[in-house]
Amino acid sequence: MIPDAFKQDLLNRVDIVDVVSRYVQLKKGGANYLGLCPFHGEKTPSFTVSPAKQFYHCFGCGVHGNAIGFLMEYGGMGYIDAVKELAASVGMQVPEKPRTTEEIARQERETDLYGVMEKAMQFYRGELKQSPRAIEYLKGRGVSGEVAARFRIGYAPDDWQGLQKAFSDYHDKALVECGLVIESEGKRYDRFRDRIMFPIYSARAAVIGFGGRVMGAGEPKYLNSPETPLFEKGREVYGLVQAREAIRTAGRALVVEGYMDVVALAQFDIGYAVATLGTATTPIHVGKLLRLADELVFCFDGDAAGRKAAWRALEVALPLAPDHKPIRFLFLPDGDDPDTYVRRHGKEGFEKLLRQAQTLSDFLLGQLRAESDLATAEGRAGFLARAKPHIQKLAAPALRVQLVNAVAEMARVSEPDIQRLMELPKAGYARPAPRRPSYEAPSCPEWSLLACLLTDLGLVEHIDPALLTPDLPETEALLAIRSLCAEAAEEPSFPILLDALDARHLDLVLKAQKYGEEVGFDTEGAKYEIQEALAKLDLKRRKVELDSILKQGMASREEQLAYRDKLMTYKRLQGALPSP
Ligand code: GTP
Ligand code: MN
Repeated sequence: MIPDAFKQDLLNRVDIVDVVSRYVQLKKGGANYLGLCPFHGEKTPSFTVSPAKQFYHCFGCGVHGNAIGFLMEYGGMGYIDAVKELAASVGMQVPEKPRTTEEIARQERETDLYGVMEKAMQFYRGELKQSPRAIEYLKGRGVSGEVAARFRIGYAPDDWQGLQKAFSDYHDKALVECGLVIESEGKRYDRFRDRIMFPIYSARAAVIGFGGRVMGAGEPKYLNSPETPLFEKGREVYGLVQAREAIRTAGRALVVEGYMDVVALAQFDIGYAVATLGTATTPIHVGKLLRLADELVFCFDGDAAGRKAAWRALEVALPLAPDHKPIRFLFLPDGDDPDTYVRRHGKEGFEKLLRQAQTLSDFLLGQLRAESDLATAEGRAGFLARAKPHIQKLAAPALRVQLVNAVAEMARVSEPDIQRLMELPKAGYARPAPRRPSYEAPSCPEWSLLACLLTDLGLVEHIDPALLTPDLPETEALLAIRSLCAEAAEEPSFPILLDALDARHLDLVLKAQKYGEEVGFDTEGAKYEIQEALAKLDLKRRKVELDSILKQGMASREEQLAYRDKLMTYKRLQGALPSP
């Protein structure tokens, strides 16, 4: 059993947009994301994902659900497996046994910690407004008030216990757990003092850490939050929340090294930049960004350290690089970082440079070639040996073929020889085929009516409420739809209907709609089905009446004749119905 609290916590941490976009290409449309439904073939997108409601719904085939449901439907996973996979993707451990009170307390604690971080961020923001020196520093670095506000940049005052102003209980354990306060030999003091504060957000827009920069000279230049229950450096990228929109629009994510680089690029309207947090690029970083962007560009300093970091990023990216999403590497001129470069050359200059970024294969082959003397047999053999582990890591089948061919040519090796030398695994992409959704068969005439009506809401006038069996969920849904149709100025569309319907009808309505779609009703077919369902209901009503007459008994000859008439009509009607 997975505890409900865990499920809730999990759903609070994952973003359904992330989950779905791993499998479906989504584009932003208004408040929602839109894409081609993976559950039925379609050419125009009717599959929507709502980040606000953390819910997906297809207006074409009616599938709907949350992130767990998506993995179950799409991946054909069971509930437990879907929860486990989701949990793993956000680094949560599914509790195997009922949680101890200690675990429950910890969970609650984490909720508190988010609150503490948020409060600290607000405090630092307020302090910035009161510190002319800090404002001067940011101004001096060309950060506008607007951009500072967008990144919630703040200032930690020059005070050993500045946070006392924000937290009535400075001795709260949570302050230490969050990494805001340091405890040493029974004394407590603020970790961040007299620093410009860059809050670090999780993908779900909660403050989970800070980077604090000294103003001017001083060591260390940047002080970061320690790893806490909320903050794990290798998972997070700086600026993702602010960049997400621009990444979607540009179709590109740019990974830079520094907080200030992200901020400066945003200042120059290059909103799709994010930064790693003073750590090397991790597979989690790459995976996260590839889900959002069509193209990933790593930007590094042109010096030796930059090239080394780029190589590490390349090695991480190789197994993750998909064929349809290019990964590129941009090296800045010596002495520049994105901050300084964009300030001197502007958006256009920076994007011009960006267009010249090396492809992953150019960078890989260029680097390997630079280390080898291709003019000699030994050099070419060494080149092949160095290329091999990288080629093997590459998962994208088409890109791998390209690289294998290029390596073969450079090393002057024939096609069969290179295949043998590289010892490539056969497998290409392996993704489970989407499971066909399973449909519920009609269980009663009311259910058929519902399915038919949802095929074409114009048929609503054919539904005779008098015939419906009272108190069935199907009946209630039918009646609710009837009254919504009656209230509406014109016949409502299915999406509008869904929106207006009481939540308790939704499940049934979506199932019935899905069934109608699967059966392939058109208006004429639905009309015929409705007649049949109504005829069945009419028969049922007549049968009830006949039974009750029999039960009461017939006193007079007239009554007996009337009963016989009714019975004959019943039999006639029954015979007119197609046998079930
Ligand atoms: P500015 O000098 O403010 O322009 O910063 P920058 O972004 O250009 O910084 P730099 O290139 O020196 O460093 C890039 C990133 O590495 C920073 O954003 C930090 O995340 C990290 N970093 C830099 N210096 C330190 C440091 O002294 N300690 C730690 N822990 N991280 C650092
Ligand atoms: Mn810099």
